[in-house]
Amino acid sequence: MARKIIIDTDPGQDDAVAILLALASPELEVLGITCVAGNVPLPLTTKNARMVCELAQRPDIKVFAGCDKPLARALVTAEHVHGKTGLDGITLPDPEMPLQDAHAVDFLIDTLRREAAGTVTLCPIGPLTNIATAMQRAPDIIGRIQEIVLMGGAYFEVGNITPAAEFNIYVDPEAAKIVFGAGAPLTVMPLDVTHKALTNRARVDAFRAMPGRVGPAVASWTDFFERYDKEKYGSEGAPLHDPCTIAYLLCPELFSGREINVEIETGSELTLGMTVADWWRVTGRSANARFMGDVDAEGFFALLLERIARL
Ligand code: RIB
Ligand code: CA
Repeated sequence: MARKIIIDTDPGQDDAVAILLALASPELEVLGITCVAGNVPLPLTTKNARMVCELAQRPDIKVFAGCDKPLARALVTAEHVHGKTGLDGITLPDPEMPLQDAHAVDFLIDTLRREAAGTVTLCPIGPLTNIATAMQRAPDIIGRIQEIVLMGGAYFEVGNITPAAEFNIYVDPEAAKIVFGAGAPLTVMPLDVTHKALTNRARVDAFRAMPGRVGPAVASWTDFFERYDKEKYGSEGAPLHDPCTIAYLLCPELFSGREINVEIETGSELTLGMTVADWWRVTGRSANARFMGDVDAEGFFALLLERIARL
């Protein structure tokens, strides 16, 4: 029986690779893709999500538009990283598949109420606005979530959008506070992990050499996406942040981490959106997250290459 998942996303080149990895993996059943404003505004994230589904020849996938701005703040976007379209690096045809009529938050609530309790995993890979809104509107769904496996936050790596905060959490810290405090089983893929999931020339060349359109598209996206991190960190390649969530569902043994307490800073402008991860367990606060700290990068890319080649 395939594991049922909903991907909540703000595509973004790395989001696109995460979606492709999920669609290439028969172990997973993608019940729907819910889009949120983040890397780029909502009209672009909904367009990009559908273009990625069509690239994977999966126009059957249900794509929903969600929240177009954070719960309590103005939207901060990341065109400086992802380009003005959010999927710069290759030009894909405009999507023909329709956007679903229902709002993403209603889809999240209705699906979690309809499916058997404990059988649906949420994979948020953008700001947590949709997830938090669903929890606020329908608290009964929290106990029905099998697991939340999200990309966000940082501890040893500290921030990527400010010195203290990672982008997904920073954009909507109030939403993150709700999700991290909800009590649903939570697995976190922070920058501490995703900055170790770096592309390099050999890995990108392997994508580019794949037959068909998908591998070369991934190579073009990472060629574009890597320049920001190379310039800022001097890193070898692009960190494939979001695919780490899907890879965890497929091969959890590739990752290691700890059950710890993680709180979200929402009061200080200086450290807004910081994930205060009690990695050394000094606070006595109860654990609310499995916070990942390491990844077998070779194994991660072996999985990713093998699966993307199937599309
Ligand atoms: O900080 C990395 C995260 O922000 C990733 O999800 C990337 O897509 C951007 O949304
Ligand atoms: Ca993302």
